[in-house]
Amino acid sequence: MLLYSKKSSYFADSKDIKTLLIRKMKNILVIGATGQIGSELTMELRERYGNEHVVAGYIVGAEPKGELKESGPSAIADVTNVEMIASVVKQYRIDTIYNLAALLSVVAESKPRLAWKIGIDGLWNILEVARENHCAVFTPSSIGSFGENTPHNLTPQDTIQRPRTMYGVTKVTTELLSDYYHNKYGVDTRAVRFPGIISNVTPPGGGTTDYAVDIFYYAVRGEKFVCPIKAGTLMDMMYMPDALNAAIMLMEADPTKLIHRNAFNIASMSFAPETIYEAIRKYEPTFEMTYDVDPLKQRIANSWPDKMDDSCARAEWGWKPTYDLDSMTKDMLEKLRIKLNK
Ligand code: SER
Repeated sequence: MLLYSKKSSYFADSKDIKTLLIRKMKNILVIGATGQIGSELTMELRERYGNEHVVAGYIVGAEPKGELKESGPSAIADVTNVEMIASVVKQYRIDTIYNLAALLSVVAESKPRLAWKIGIDGLWNILEVARENHCAVFTPSSIGSFGENTPHNLTPQDTIQRPRTMYGVTKVTTELLSDYYHNKYGVDTRAVRFPGIISNVTPPGGGTTDYAVDIFYYAVRGEKFVCPIKAGTLMDMMYMPDALNAAIMLMEADPTKLIHRNAFNIASMSFAPETIYEAIRKYEPTFEMTYDVDPLKQRIANSWPDKMDDSCARAEWGWKPTYDLDSMTKDMLEKLRIKLNK
């Protein structure tokens, strides 16, 4: 019997559906809790659900530090080790997993096998553990799941996804495998396609959109910024508070309203390098920028949407961003001046 997804849940039976409808996030595991998104998502979840209910999952060599370490439980949780994940899930009676383990687009091009191992073999492990332990799973997709032949302007929710990067290949597979586990086993999988995420806490490592974070550090340090992306290259971007809110809102959303699951386009701003440069110059008038285009980053950027259409996310679970380019720029500069003592 089908109750909660108009489109895709033909295998799930009514018992699964009952479980889904009464599910509440009580004990949460964040995998990749020391990474760019994980470090802030873990703290935000602790704020909302209570410190002791949110476990920071990390790998050896990327241990939590400071407030992240002190404020709540943490556990080694390597996605490539299914027994380890199962044991953490059982020990902390986890009901929701945020799976943020991944290599970003540029790094994944130099280590494609590792990107697959973490992104897809790892995801399979998470989904199996989730199936056995009745956990909901959030595994983000990305603007990187699209390719050259995707419509670039107002990229639709349902469209061509034929990326040529390994990052993109893993993200499309993530979407398909997550939907498969939902359709076949009733696992409550949900996700968004993140734009480039901009934050002032943990820097990204090895992504195509990293320039939009780096540019702020140069501006605040009073240094000239050399942009690796060509003027005129539009990409979707989002400020971290909106990204965190999207991930949490979607996992809390009423499942009966979700027509899509893996994964929703979400958007808040789209800009090219010269536009963010001008936005910063409004507050730092002496800031200078030149270009030295990185061919790999440019090729990847050219294959991604200029701007996604996020109307399905808005209609199905009430997505609405709060920051635009100007309000984000103002906040980033203020926070970074404090962080860098400038
Ligand atoms: N920020 C990511 C990257 O550049 C895109 O999702 O790889």
